[in-house]
Amino acid sequence: MTFPRECWYVAARADELGDGLAARRILGTSVVLYRLADGSVAALEDRCAHRPYPLSAGHRDGDRIVCGYHGCTYDPDGTCVLIPSQDKPPLGARVRAFPVHLSGPLVWVWMGTPGGARLRPPPATPELTPGQGWSCNGARRDVAANFLLLHEHYLDLTNVFEMHADMVPPGIEALPPLEEVEVSEVSVSYVRTLPSAPLAPWEAAAAGLDTDEAFSRRETGTFVTPGLHRQTYSIIGADGPVFELVRLHGFTPQTDRSTRVFLQLAWRGSAVATDTDRRLAEVFGAMADRDAAALEAMQRCLDEDETPRHYVNVKADRAALRARRIVHSMIEEERGR
Ligand code: FES
Repeated sequence: MTFPRECWYVAARADELGDGLAARRILGTSVVLYRLADGSVAALEDRCAHRPYPLSAGHRDGDRIVCGYHGCTYDPDGTCVLIPSQDKPPLGARVRAFPVHLSGPLVWVWMGTPGGARLRPPPATPELTPGQGWSCNGARRDVAANFLLLHEHYLDLTNVFEMHADMVPPGIEALPPLEEVEVSEVSVSYVRTLPSAPLAPWEAAAAGLDTDEAFSRRETGTFVTPGLHRQTYSIIGADGPVFELVRLHGFTPQTDRSTRVFLQLAWRGSAVATDTDRRLAEVFGAMADRDAAALEAMQRCLDEDETPRHYVNVKADRAALRARRIVHSMIEEERGR
């Protein structure tokens, strides 16, 4: 499995977790998530310490999980506290517990070195927290492709003319080159400004504005961490932004060839329509369907290539290539440890 582990990933949306036990596959590991009485979330390896049986197939006893096979019972920190057939659990009987962080609608999990989570907080997502005029919605889907293909896809939006022509403002026939690609050791971002043009129908509907008027747009895309990609899109009038959209993608590898995608949209504007929520969900849901189809086709091509092929890079790949290098160097560093 080839993905960095020393990193926070989105494990679930907060509203997915109720009274039950939620089984998830994260970085090739089976994890069971459940909500505790105080509202926090526990994440344990989804394997009983006694036999290879999933804890998620058991049941809850308050904040504890009872294995559905012989009844071993676990605290939320993974300690086995009870074995029905003997007085005391054997020393060291436990399963791994993973640190969890709740932030707005997202539940983050740390699958890396125990103790490492304290050194790095999960990425900030202020747009997803109520206040400052932001509204947001979210959805999740599974894409049968490697998570790095997804990062690269969203760092090169020149695919928009072929794949999402209805998203392009009228009159714009080519994306201007990236103004800036900013690179740090662990992240990469690009910035691009589009020339003034009337609004595409989806923009007008979402922003509550008239299609006759012309606006410029500024977009940015950031590989924040291997677990999060962030895009912003601002429609700018004479006095500044009239509509701002943030598209966050939590990319959580399940396996080398499967990624759970948490798409969160946040928006604000001076004339936002009452049904912007529904319209954005429809537009970006349809876009995500087309993206997923292309990404899964690419993964199938990679699987069919009998030997690794060399694919040509073009200028628009600059940010994507940098992200790939960051991920590879993180993996190498973790292997070196
Ligand atoms: S397998 Fe879980 S208690 Fe035996």
